[in-house]
Amino acid sequence: MAFPVDRPRRLRDSAVLRDLLRETRVVPEDLVYPIFIVPGRGVKSPIGSLAGQCHLSPDSAARLAKSFRDEGGRALILFGIPDRKDETGSPGADPEGPVQLAVREIKSAAPELLVATDVCLCEYTSHGHCGVLSPDGRVLNDPTLELLAAQALSHAEAGADLVAPSDMMDGRVQAIRGALDGAGHERIPIMSYSVKYASAFYGPFREAAQSTPRSGDRKGYQMDPANIREAAREAELDLAEGADIVMVKPAGPYLDVLREVRLLTKRPLAAYQVSGEFAMLRAAGDAGLLDYKAAALESLLGIKRAGADLILTYLAPEFLRWRA
Ligand code: PBG
Repeated sequence: MAFPVDRPRRLRDSAVLRDLLRETRVVPEDLVYPIFIVPGRGVKSPIGSLAGQCHLSPDSAARLAKSFRDEGGRALILFGIPDRKDETGSPGADPEGPVQLAVREIKSAAPELLVATDVCLCEYTSHGHCGVLSPDGRVLNDPTLELLAAQALSHAEAGADLVAPSDMMDGRVQAIRGALDGAGHERIPIMSYSVKYASAFYGPFREAAQSTPRSGDRKGYQMDPANIREAAREAELDLAEGADIVMVKPAGPYLDVLREVRLLTKRPLAAYQVSGEFAMLRAAGDAGLLDYKAAALESLLGIKRAGADLILTYLAPEFLRWRA
């Protein structure tokens, strides 16, 4: 045949057609903004490893929450950095801990915002692992579950709208669900970091959260980046245990995994564009190697297109400003 039988380019001819036919859109409602809470008052100190992000005391977090809401932001996820750590991460369940205080202050300053909390021990343990250790230094699964449940419960009691366990212990969704339900919090959803890889892309976060393990690594509980069947197994387990939302993390290097989990469940799916993904975009932009805004937007679009309903991303505030 002399000419093409079909011409997809016909539909790319005008800007209006391109707009009308765009298959995927990222909107403010897709984004959850991770913030880092420290003790004290009036603290707002830039995090060296994460450009534009700050360590915030609860009152500063409430101020940031209000301006985020005023710019169209809808959801935050809180990470805590305590001034005290111990072997079992017990400061994580302190009702007066930084996250618990920040939840209360944010909910009273900007009640419309969804306030999610990250539930994990690594920021609260002296050794930096996501669970309690045996004498020979292995992370013990079952003894960790009640500690996670206690932390999640303290977040719910403080007024968190959603809890998000990121530890990768087996059975933690069930344990947390039981603790929440037992205390009358059956309406609080669980967003589980179901498919969390042992990734090099968490580097900047660990500096921000001061949660680098003192010894060893997280490969004994986080997933091998080579595995995708295992991702399906993890997601299925968490769904069976009652996870309301499942998450894949990191996002960009794992878009195939995101798609796999998308096809596996009708429940909502989240993806975490992690600190290293953000830092790479920033560094490349700062070095003049690419157009930061365009590349950042494209990265979010790719994650959404792969199947994410929600994206946890440090780009959230910039995204709102770019749209304005
Ligand atoms: C662990 C946790 C981590 C991140 C979120 N929750 C780090 C880890 O597993 O070492 C990483 C997030 C990021 O890199 O942005 N509680």
